[in-house]
Amino acid sequence: MRRVMVMNSKGGSGKTTIATNLAAYYASRGHGTVLYDYDPQASSSTWLKARRQQPGVAHIEGHEAYHQSLGSVTRSWLLRVPTGTDRIVLDTPSGVRGQDMADLVKRVDTIIIPVQPSPVDIRAASDFIRDLLLIGKVRSYPVRVAVVANRVRKRTLGFRLLQRFLQSLNIPFVALLRDTQNYVQAAEYGLGVHELNTRTIDVDLKSWRPLLDWIEREPETERAQMVRRVAMPRA
Ligand SMILES: Nc1ncnc2c1ncn2[C@@H]1O[C@H](COP(=O)(O)OP(=O)(O)OP(=O)(O)O)[C@@H](O)[C@H]1O
Ligand SMILES: [Mg+2]
Repeated sequence: MRRVMVMNSKGGSGKTTIATNLAAYYASRGHGTVLYDYDPQASSSTWLKARRQQPGVAHIEGHEAYHQSLGSVTRSWLLRVPTGTDRIVLDTPSGVRGQDMADLVKRVDTIIIPVQPSPVDIRAASDFIRDLLLIGKVRSYPVRVAVVANRVRKRTLGFRLLQRFLQSLNIPFVALLRDTQNYVQAAEYGLGVHELNTRTIDVDLKSWRPLLDWIEREPETERAQMVRRVAMPRA
């Protein structure tokens, strides 16, 4: 079972886009997939409702988890997933900090942080990553953490700033997703981009490969690397 959380305290960075695309990808590859929506805005749940209107798409089990108070949930939360589930994707709200962040981190083995190429987004991501790495589980029992650059338009100042930021990080940068209406269109119909029948989709499918491969990679190696990196954070 893999439990992947998409998280960044910055609003609009692409959490729901990545969570829903991941869930759609896993489900369409035959994985028993559950999508937990921890955001009271319910964007993932709305996406899932649209998906249910689509004929012939793979089923994703949804949980409107924002109804629960985070701290009150015990370890048994996982017992409620249907038998046969082997991929759990968590979409989280913006502004998550402190104890809520710690409670969420305990539920997963992988965290994806989407970051957009703008100075405001980069600064917010930098603060968020610092807070995340200070959390107990990430330090002592490493969750795998990676960054995805989202809504990238190459040859812009924002992208150059983002590249510099990503190089300075002590966590891996695993994918670069371009800014395209394909994501907006897929979101509207409850689909993942790989389920769209659009001429321009090949480049987007290719851009997901490194992220999907990184998530599937044998965890021990990454964990060992993570321990070393977190033990010796860069200045
Ligand atoms: N790569 C992309 N290309 C084009 N549009 C995108 C891309 N990624 C996200 N978007 C759009 O940007 C908006 C914000 O994205 P999304 O809802 O995924 O962010 P979020 O982090 O979940 O936001 P919130 O913090 O409000 O939950 C959406 O309208 C989405 O369709
Ligand atoms: Mg969202």
